[in-house]
Amino acid sequence: MKILVAITGASGALYAQRLLDRLDPHEHEIHVVLSHYAQAVLAQELPEGLRLPVGARMHGLQSMNAPFASGSNPMDAMVVIPCTMGTLGRIAHGLSGDVLLRAADVALKERKKLILVPRETPLSLVHVRNYELLLLAGATILPANPSFYHRPATVEQVMDTVVGRVMDHLGIANNLAPRWQEEKE
Ligand SMILES: Cc1cc2nc3c(=O)[nH]c(=O)nc-3n(C[C@H](O)[C@H](O)[C@H](O)COP(=O)(O)O)c2cc1C
Repeated sequence: MKILVAITGASGALYAQRLLDRLDPHEHEIHVVLSHYAQAVLAQELPEGLRLPVGARMHGLQSMNAPFASGSNPMDAMVVIPCTMGTLGRIAHGLSGDVLLRAADVALKERKKLILVPRETPLSLVHVRNYELLLLAGATILPANPSFYHRPATVEQVMDTVVGRVMDHLGIANNLAPRWQEEKE
């Protein structure tokens, strides 16, 4: 698969890092793009910096010279993780002023997987209306809401309950978090 991981300026940069750590560049073509504000949150939350898998390609935000800027060469899947309410709203309304937004626009129009991972809480009516628009347009909204039924012991285990669900929706086999009832089978 060709996968674009887009990182925006919401809290939860570690979700993006843990997803990148688990995407195998030998199996998938991995592209990465960061919003301007992602840099600020990364500096706050991942002071050691973002680690890219060897072979992953980082793209500048302002250049449209990326394959996924065109419907003629779309990604198979795009994940915006974490996804700000600002970026979510811009995607919902078809704004495509940079390559991250354009890639999401392309994903929707080409009927490719677009997985948005917002963290925001609580939600306003504006957010909910944007969620509705995006769901109607075919996006998957996968909020960073961890589960606790398998009693995770570390922050990483908590986060992997979300990252595992993202990988499920990408269609990539993973055992990041125990599945309900699987121990009993
Ligand atoms: C440390 C930090 C955490 C933030 N967390 C969130 C968040 O969880 N959700 C959100 O929508 N915005 C959050 N913001 C605000 C966004 O970064 C801001 O609205 C920015 O304009 C979003 O731009 P982008 O969508 O291009 O990344 C945060 C900002 C900072 C500095």
